Amino acid sequence: MTTTTGPTTVTGSVGTAHTRVDGLDKVTGAARYAGEIPFTDLAHGWLVLSTIARGRVRSVDAEPVLAMPGVLTVLHHGNAPRVDIDYEGMLGRPDPLIGVFQHDQVPFSGWPVALVVAETSEQAREAAEALVVHYDQEPHDIEFSHGRPGAYTPDTDGMRVEKGDLEAELAASAHVVDAEYTTPEEHHSPMEPHAATARWEGGRLDLVDSNQGSTWIAGELAKVFSLDPASVRVRSEHVGGAFGSKGLRVHQVCAAMAATVLDRPVRVVLTRRQMFSLVGYRSPTTQRVRLGAEPDGRLRAFDHQGQSLTSTIYEFVEASAGFGRPMYAADAHRSVNRVVRLDVPTPTYMRAPGEAPGSFALESALDELAEKCGMDPIALRARNEPAVGPVSGLPFSSRNLTACFDEGARRFGWAGRDPRPRTRREGRWLIGTGTAAATFPVLVGPATAAVTAEADGTFAVRITAADVGTGARTALTLIAADALEVAPDRVKVHIADSDFGPAMIAGGSMGTRSWGWAVTGAARELREKLVPGGDIPAEGITARFDTGALLGTLSQKERHSYGAQFAEVAVDVATGEVRVRRMLGIFAAGRIINPLTARSQLVGGMTWGLSMALHEEAVRDRASGAPVGPDLAGYHVAAHADVPHIEADWVDDPDPEDPVGIKGIGEIGIVGAAAAIANAVWHATGVRHRNLPIRPDRVIEDGRLDGAVSEAGGSGA
Ligand code: MOS
Repeated sequence: MTTTTGPTTVTGSVGTAHTRVDGLDKVTGAARYAGEIPFTDLAHGWLVLSTIARGRVRSVDAEPVLAMPGVLTVLHHGNAPRVDIDYEGMLGRPDPLIGVFQHDQVPFSGWPVALVVAETSEQAREAAEALVVHYDQEPHDIEFSHGRPGAYTPDTDGMRVEKGDLEAELAASAHVVDAEYTTPEEHHSPMEPHAATARWEGGRLDLVDSNQGSTWIAGELAKVFSLDPASVRVRSEHVGGAFGSKGLRVHQVCAAMAATVLDRPVRVVLTRRQMFSLVGYRSPTTQRVRLGAEPDGRLRAFDHQGQSLTSTIYEFVEASAGFGRPMYAADAHRSVNRVVRLDVPTPTYMRAPGEAPGSFALESALDELAEKCGMDPIALRARNEPAVGPVSGLPFSSRNLTACFDEGARRFGWAGRDPRPRTRREGRWLIGTGTAAATFPVLVGPATAAVTAEADGTFAVRITAADVGTGARTALTLIAADALEVAPDRVKVHIADSDFGPAMIAGGSMGTRSWGWAVTGAARELREKLVPGGDIPAEGITARFDTGALLGTLSQKERHSYGAQFAEVAVDVATGEVRVRRMLGIFAAGRIINPLTARSQLVGGMTWGLSMALHEEAVRDRASGAPVGPDLAGYHVAAHADVPHIEADWVDDPDPEDPVGIKGIGEIGIVGAAAAIANAVWHATGVRHRNLPIRPDRVIEDGRLDGAVSEAGGSGA
């Protein structure tokens, strides 16, 4: 740690463990989240969601509800202000869901049909639950299965990649794996539900929100309400988790609508149950993987076909088939994503979109291939290390996957592992170990930052970054401190205010890299402006930096982070319960800014992977089209008792092109983790689990569980 007093010139904060600069505020409750910031004259909106999965709203019986205590208004398609959703936003055209109350159509169960606004949250809820809505119901279709009619490959970038003669290479292969894998519908489940308060303040729409990018939300809201972007201000000081779900959602639009209609501040908070249909989720996937290899494991044929679902109103594709494109060399490479439109809510980006489910299928298939080739799974991956991008032919900026496996194998104790399954038993537990590779793209987005030298000798950084719980505010403090060559306690970082100007969102694992670049640039410009020993005026001296033009000069390369995941599991032969005993992840993910929070983030991602492997599964009722048990009781996320000792660490891997060496660590922690666990379950039991989650009923249903361990194998305790 750097000293808190002492020399005016200090370097080396980046890379040292630093507790969160907002940690004390968070644990003492001083940090206010979007749903708890007080406003004078605040009104509360409560959403009413459709109970049918397809049809139209015939009528909304608002009158009786308007007579209830405290009720101020009921907004619905018959009276709501018109908004514009016919625009090109940052992520393309918006999901029509954003245009709430604009028509009477109901495209899925849980579609917003009304907003009840009242003096208190309790009155709004009471009235919302009493509101009677009449529907004309139509039959719905939510049936998702592999190769079902209607599945298509979108005509957009990256949906289909083909190189070489796949069928010929498969036919010529000594070993072939051809298997189908499935992953269920999964939800982001951030601890903090979505919440926004909107008001008109000095002629501007002012929104206090919980989001992944305040300039982004401000820009989209300006378009939705046809406002000058300068007359919208969005702030998002603290965020209790996002994972891809906290973009522009209906609650911000509803709050702004109601604030406009009532001309007073209006807050809309989503309930956990409402989040299951309003904030996106990860589509279920079915994936078919075909791998063909030489006897020595060298891949001749690589084929990954993924299918996901989307709503009838918006095309979002969970592109699971892209995972292997930069990963493994093969003579023929094919990867295709398909999607089918059903009467379900629109899925969205969720931590490691594509890579999370894609790595489960492909890294399981590689384990199956290793078994067929009689090879160690790590050796199989090493055999297929590409010299250049297997599909693109582009050079890698850096590629340290092998270093991750070397370090991981050493620390996990992989050497001497009996490759045969079902060779270890301890009482009623079958024990196994598994591994899998991880990768995630390294990207960067434009950002602007301002750094001010204050008269009191401190420095203020202003950037519209978002700290979604990752520790980004702290990371930026360390980055700024190093760029300014001062101790971090002389730097105050202000984030998440759209008035600070445009900046990349906290998404795509690009936040810290994108913001760090801008902050470093602004700090350097400031140092050039400062005269040694010169006076600083009361208003300070400010330098600004915009990375926009710089990013265009980056050469064409394959830029990725990598990781090696290891897991040890114990499987109860009587109950089918799988317990993960330990996990280790070693990552090559650029320069690590703050080891303390980076480790937490990676361990968090790996915990998600455990949760994905064993627990998470949203079930939709065929009859109603609605989710079953849409809460944290019905949808089990790994809890403390499910999570064993998890270790995450990294190898040296600074990005040569980034001014700080950053790659990004937001998403890679989950990638490959579920496959490592599934591979360990196979190693323990001899049974492949190709459908997630690996529930006890799926494990015992196999029937082969409670027998002796393999005859040639070792004995247990
Ligand atoms: Mo993340 S799924 O890129 O917000």
